[in-house]
Amino acid sequence: MGLVLSAVGCEEAKESKEPSKKSQPKAEKSVPKEPERKEEPAEEAQKPSGPPTLADTEGYKQWLKFNREPIEGRTHGLTDIYVNQDRDVIAPHGILKFPFPDGTIIVKEILSNDWVSIMRKVEGADPAHDDWEWIEYDAEGSVIGKDASCWGCHAQAEDTDWVFTDLEKSE
Ligand code: HEC
Repeated sequence: MGLVLSAVGCEEAKESKEPSKKSQPKAEKSVPKEPERKEEPAEEAQKPSGPPTLADTEGYKQWLKFNREPIEGRTHGLTDIYVNQDRDVIAPHGILKFPFPDGTIIVKEILSNDWVSIMRKVEGADPAHDDWEWIEYDAEGSVIGKDASCWGCHAQAEDTDWVFTDLEKSE
């Protein structure tokens, strides 16, 4: 086996040194190209919702953080919680104002395993749950849970627009 392989290797080496055989014109194969597919048609435009994707929360670590130090969470150990709103908007006089504005996204990051739980408020998405959408992803981006598996427990915080955590003062 070794012998055969080295023989082939030799021949190849010889061939590549041979100047006359240099670059044979390649036979042009004309493979008809499929027309480039455009973005999906705008059928989504009608519905305001659909569970938030990880792309919707891109850069969330730059958002306003609810907590100064990681919270010893009641469900998953240490967590950080972020929101895509300015402090002045959601807590105009230093305390949270409810309900949160349309378009609010809250991300709870579980520090031990990089899972993220996301709530997003989209007007008209789910009036029975004050228009919050719910989803949780693991570190690989697979869906761990959503909707009913979330709001049953979060109903305990209905008085604070389904959000458990208070915004800590900035100083
Ligand atoms: C067993 C109760 C329970 C379930 C089920 C639950 N949560 Fe929570 N969630 C909490 C508690 C308690 C907090 C407050 C922070 C903490 O203790 O971890 C919280 C915090 C959050 C926060 C940060 C905002 C806040 O309310 O403090 C988000 C976002 C969130 N959860 C999303 C979800 C999503 C999405 C699901 C479903 C996939 C879910 N949660 C399921 C109890 C729950």
